[in-house]
Amino acid sequence: MAYDAQPAPATVYHPAPAGMNIKVAASDLSVRYGGALALDRVAMDIPDRSVTACIGPSGCGKSTFLRCINRMNDTIETARVSGSIRIDGEEVNDRSIDPVLLRARVGMVFQKPNPFPKSIYENVAYGPRIHGLAASKDELDAIVETSLTKAGLWKEVADRLHQPGTSLSGGQQQRLVIARAIAVNPEVILMDEPCSALDPIATARIEELIDELRENYALIIVTHSMAQAARVSQMTAFFHLGALVEYGPTEEIFTNPRDQRTQDYITGRFG
Ligand SMILES: Nc1ncnc2c1ncn2[C@@H]1O[C@H](COP(=O)(O)OP(=O)(O)OP(=O)(O)O)[C@@H](O)[C@H]1O
Ligand SMILES: [Mg+2]
Repeated sequence: MAYDAQPAPATVYHPAPAGMNIKVAASDLSVRYGGALALDRVAMDIPDRSVTACIGPSGCGKSTFLRCINRMNDTIETARVSGSIRIDGEEVNDRSIDPVLLRARVGMVFQKPNPFPKSIYENVAYGPRIHGLAASKDELDAIVETSLTKAGLWKEVADRLHQPGTSLSGGQQQRLVIARAIAVNPEVILMDEPCSALDPIATARIEELIDELRENYALIIVTHSMAQAARVSQMTAFFHLGALVEYGPTEEIFTNPRDQRTQDYITGRFG
């Protein structure tokens, strides 16, 4: 279904529910690629220790939004970010922020698992080593084991740590890159369609993992699966044409959306 251009409710501020600690706060956040507006004055508070799902039709700005949180848009020549995005109140776009350190605090997992062309062990050990998180080989071994355990992969790889990361199945590779993200003590984990290349069993395993990880992290996940958003998230954000149309507790978004566009999208009438 096509919509006439209507004034986007882009400047509506979307707070997190009372009582939740805010981890990431966007205000007046816009992104342009060349002249084209891809994100339009997004304002929202994302809570800590919970899963926030970003949904919406292809091209609505979901990946662009995620990339604002760890400054991956810096790597796109034509991208221009304006407005504010804060983590624990600290402005991510501030000149004093080192994007390399930021990307350790804000881990990212992509649609296609992207292990380094290194061993399983080295995939996880690399980050802690370059960030100086381990004082000895024993400490590094311990970080690798803990991270792989938290990612639900340790039992499957404990006896093959020195085989290439790419020798694992797709679902195992996805858990490996999650272990790699966890190994540097992140605060926020971004996942851009983390299950779309996986079969239903591997997907279920990642969804369980996401549910466990929210005890310790703020997770922000993009998904095209309404069922997945409903299963794994506590908060849901619906984007359309670069604007954040609606944001709230997942149950409310799915059972009682306030905006017609949200209603149409979640019931499969467009997108
Ligand atoms: N590197 C880029 N250069 C130019 N335009 C871009 C770039 N990346 C994204 N865009 C444009 O910005 C808009 C938002 O794209 P984005 O990738 O954020 O959408 P999305 O919601 O993640 O879509 P999908 O569900 O297909 O992944 C689109 O119009 C897209 O064409
Ligand atoms: Mg995308």
